[in-house]
Amino acid sequence: MYRILAREDYSDVTFMIEVEHPMMARAARPGQFVIVRLNDQGERIPLTLADFDAARGTVTLVVQAVGKTTMQMKAECRPGSVLQSLVGPMGMPSSVGRPGKVVGVGGGLGVAPIYPQLRAHKENGSYVIAVLGFRSRDLVFWEDRFRKVCDELVLCTDDGSAGLKGRVTDGLHQVLEHHRDITEVIAIGPAVMMKACSELTRERGIRTMVSLNPIMVDGTGMCGGCRVTVAGKMKYACVDGPDFDGHQVDFEELMRRLNRFRGDEKAALERWRKHAASCNLRRGISEES
Ligand SMILES: Cc1cc2nc3c(=O)[nH]c(=O)nc-3n(C[C@H](O)[C@H](O)[C@H](O)COP(=O)(O)OP(=O)(O)OC[C@H]3O[C@@H](n4cnc5c(N)ncnc54)[C@H](O)[C@@H]3O)c2cc1C
Ligand code: FES
Repeated sequence: MYRILAREDYSDVTFMIEVEHPMMARAARPGQFVIVRLNDQGERIPLTLADFDAARGTVTLVVQAVGKTTMQMKAECRPGSVLQSLVGPMGMPSSVGRPGKVVGVGGGLGVAPIYPQLRAHKENGSYVIAVLGFRSRDLVFWEDRFRKVCDELVLCTDDGSAGLKGRVTDGLHQVLEHHRDITEVIAIGPAVMMKACSELTRERGIRTMVSLNPIMVDGTGMCGGCRVTVAGKMKYACVDGPDFDGHQVDFEELMRRLNRFRGDEKAALERWRKHAASCNLRRGISEES
């Protein structure tokens, strides 16, 4: 079991937990992920290593509560509580390559995961630009952290309350217009966003890496759940990725496969909500009596 040392909430759905795991903190590399199980009946879910600190022996996960397990984590993960299991680091580390001018685009689930990659590029001597997307100013997090490892930071908000009004693709477009010498773009977020970023860079011939998020179960190449098609070939995102060349990814197939279990996911969330509500009711009655 792995103890949660700290938690910070960034919005009503996004929160950070720092977990004690010295061995993983030493082994982790940018771009890798873990498979988490909250309790012994819990499902296994993949989460990116948003940060790791070998000296403190901790790894950091930033979670968006979108369904049953992530909402249960939001309700139950507190400093002092434990995760039943934390397996990893998994996946191929991101390749950093030669120093150049690198743009990291993070939206939604992708804001935190892009951070260790940009830090690695900065440490490697690259000029680093971050383009980060949020719904509004009050949902912005890690701005200071990103500013420390970036030469430029473009914030984009849907309502224009901070930075550029618009989507991360608008921010990326602006950066590509200003800088004609970009060597690489890294995009992490919803599949539709990574697809749009890849389309923007394709016509300019800029290498574009995306971190794919198909449904994963074992994370070791055994179940086939995370199958994706890249350059016409079948790949397993958990062992061959999760980073791939965005210009070669079949995003339509990825999006279809991500929606396969929507009915089951909705039913699982409703069951958990009912169960949590009846537990709260019982707790209320016993506290009263
Ligand atoms: C390599 C990788 C890294 C990820 N990193 C992060 C991260 O750092 N932070 C974060 O908040 N989320 C991350 N995700 C997504 C996260 O795993 C899903 O949001 C989570 O599994 C949803 O589970 P749920 O029960 O809360 O929601 P559900 O209602 O069960 O699912 C909601 C949606 O999440 C996706 N999903 C569901 N189960 C899985 C699964 N086992 N594997 C992958 N996707 C699934 C599906 O698109 C589904 O429609 C990552 C996914 C992958 C593949
Ligand atoms: S998660 Fe099972 S093969 Fe990748």
